[in-house]
Amino acid sequence: MTKLLLSVHVIAAILAVGPIAVAASLFPRFAREPTSPVAAFLHRTCRTYTAIGVAVPVFGVATGASLGVLGDTWLLASVVLTAVAAGLLALSILPAQRRALDGATGVAKRLAMTTGVFNLLWAVVVVLMIVRPGSTTGA
Ligand code: HEM
Repeated sequence: MTKLLLSVHVIAAILAVGPIAVAASLFPRFAREPTSPVAAFLHRTCRTYTAIGVAVPVFGVATGASLGVLGDTWLLASVVLTAVAAGLLALSILPAQRRALDGATGVAKRLAMTTGVFNLLWAVVVVLMIVRPGSTTGA
């Protein structure tokens, strides 16, 4: 059962967070032109995969419960970083993309920065998931 939950968790992380990271990174380049259909498509991609991405923490928590590691420091740190990244996406990146598409100027540069921080957070979470510092339950 744990293996199934972990598989769904990792597949969701790859297939949902991956496209968001790529689409959000490309968005600022195409958003300089507010009517760009590519920018609109990238924004839609980010929104769609954000909805699918909810499966990542859901199956992450289920995996953690099944392994009995929900109280572990490395896991709690991952949960906090995941929450920060999700908040950044939902409250900052997606609304800023919308504003850029609505014709606001000067959004692209800041968006490029927040998106960079966002991608960095995922990288840290993935390393935490793999290294599990302080964990005594495996390598
Ligand atoms: C609420 C947030 C999350 C929770 C509770 C969570 C929980 C877990 C748990 C319990 C494991 C199993 C570790 C083990 O085998 O001992 C795991 C593995 C993994 N998680 Fe997460 N996770 C979360 C977020 C994420 C995110 C955001 C990503 C990627 C962007 C991610 C990527 C991975 C990967 C790649 C593994 C496999 C690591 C390995 O087995 O070597 N997780 N996660």
